[in-house]
Amino acid sequence: MSSFSGKTFMIAGASSGIGRNAAEFLTRSLGANVVLVARRTSIITDLAKTFPGDNYAITYDFLDLEHIGDIFTECEQQKIYLDGIVYSAGIAPLYALKDNDTERTMDTMKINALAFAEIAKGVLNSSCMHEQASIVAISSIVSIAVTNRQSAYAASKAMLNMYVKYFAKEALGKYRVNAILPGAVETEMYQELRKQSTDFENKMKRNYPLGVIPAEKISKLIAYLLSEDSSYITGSFFQMDSGFLLN
Ligand SMILES: NC(=O)c1ccc[n+]([C@@H]2O[C@H](COP(=O)([O-])OP(=O)(O)OC[C@H]3O[C@@H](n4cnc5c(N)ncnc54)[C@H](OP(=O)(O)O)[C@@H]3O)[C@@H](O)[C@H]2O)c1
Repeated sequence: MSSFSGKTFMIAGASSGIGRNAAEFLTRSLGANVVLVARRTSIITDLAKTFPGDNYAITYDFLDLEHIGDIFTECEQQKIYLDGIVYSAGIAPLYALKDNDTERTMDTMKINALAFAEIAKGVLNSSCMHEQASIVAISSIVSIAVTNRQSAYAASKAMLNMYVKYFAKEALGKYRVNAILPGAVETEMYQELRKQSTDFENKMKRNYPLGVIPAEKISKLIAYLLSEDSSYITGSFFQMDSGFLLN
């Protein structure tokens, strides 16, 4: 993998899990700078200081769809030029359709998909993006499969997938846009799902024959998709599902 020295990537959802791990990998192992975005200011501010490089933290709640463009305005004001974006912000509510919680479902759509559409708008209208920047959205394998009690989450990720396709089409020749569809990844979200499920370990063994994925493995795929090594790839989905779809 080529070095990312001198390059800057925005990570949305950087305060924990996949986003945090990706930020750590990009800075510590590949020499990049990062702009960390999430709600928890103290965590992203500390991480921006802890990771090597010239990093920056922006507090934002993606439930607020109206002001996402301000993130790009702030980058312009700070003279931060982005070589890529990782959209890893997300929530994963668990309930059956018979118990559908409309408000929670709307929030899930907003954070997991509609905010990404606003990120696309920001990118396509901003002067803070370097030509040939690469955008990676973290979707989910459940966007193309049916599981239990994940209708809101799965629908939001299916929506995200289509935004990835349209974003890639509208940005063609200028920026690349791809999605990763992970299976179960060992993160705070995974631990939360564990708490809300019965017979969790056995279900995981059955559903993910190759095991629960360490976040580091997702970070390496993110880095590949951000790098010039993937310069002919856009509008694509990459499964890392630990054998889930072979069930
Ligand atoms: N873990 C898995 O098994 C798995 C599998 C497939 C796909 N994914 C996807 O991977 C992505 C990352 O998940 P993860 O496992 O790393 O989860 P995580 O550890 O819970 O991290 C989620 C991140 O999203 C941010 N976030 C949540 N709501 C937000 C909001 N309203 N505004 C701004 N940021 C918000 C959180 O930051 P703050 O709380 O600080 O705002 C946090 O940084 C998600 O899109 C998830 O759906 C995860």
